[in-house]
Amino acid sequence: MDWGMRNRMARLLPPASGRTVMLAVDHGYFMGPTRRLENVRATIAPLAPHADVLALTRGVLRTSVDPTITTPILLRVSGGATVLKEDLSHEALTTTVREAHRLNVAGVALSVFVGAPHEHESLVNLAQLVEAGEETGMPVVAITAVGKELEKRDARYLALACRVAAEIGAHLVKTYYCDGFDKVVEGCPVPLVVAGGPKLDSERAALELAHDAVAQGAKGVDMGRNIWQSDHPVAMLKALRAVVHDGATVREALDVLEGERARDRAPTPSVAA
Ligand code: R5P
Repeated sequence: MDWGMRNRMARLLPPASGRTVMLAVDHGYFMGPTRRLENVRATIAPLAPHADVLALTRGVLRTSVDPTITTPILLRVSGGATVLKEDLSHEALTTTVREAHRLNVAGVALSVFVGAPHEHESLVNLAQLVEAGEETGMPVVAITAVGKELEKRDARYLALACRVAAEIGAHLVKTYYCDGFDKVVEGCPVPLVVAGGPKLDSERAALELAHDAVAQGAKGVDMGRNIWQSDHPVAMLKALRAVVHDGATVREALDVLEGERARDRAPTPSVAA
């Protein structure tokens, strides 16, 4: 692997733990102003210092993130369908690798829709992106998207989708956690991270998901709604870091969360006269 590619991979998967906590804020590219991501700059600002990577589109990067930021960027480069249509798989590459280099990002990400009406196009998009990525040292993250069919998230389907993405050349795969996740990991020769999906019932459930995914071999999370739709997003991100980087149990992570919440609630000490 060339130096540039290795350096970018190390930005996506920091070598200290070999794991990553990516903050996903790219939902607007097909969902519009999602709840609590309406003002994307305001959502990102307090969270960015605690994330290993920010996953977003070029529009949000240019308009809503200060260029002095040092947090590595994972740039979403596919799009072309929205939630207003039934079939979300009709995507194309919407941003070039040349633009990704101009923005100095650590990697590019696109969705692949295995088994969906536009499966073929999305896999060819992946192949083309890998060609351009290999040529210029840019890692490609394949996202095994399920569109509106959330029930597709089972081990048999995800193992197939992840393996196909790795075979075409993805350097990292983002998928979903599921029962039998170890089988998904076993069949995928490149690192995997998991998305959170729609907001779960509790913070505990999201921390359990991250804990179980990492315990079964995921290299971390690329999570969005379960962080920034939480009432305590910074605390939630810190609790996730404890799970992913420090090997915390769910109980220990909940203690981190509670400690941070208590700090939030504590009155600011007044300056002595
Ligand atoms: C889809 O919008 C993107 O791929 C998200 O980045 C991904 O689903 C992760 O975000 P969440 O944890 O909210 O599912």
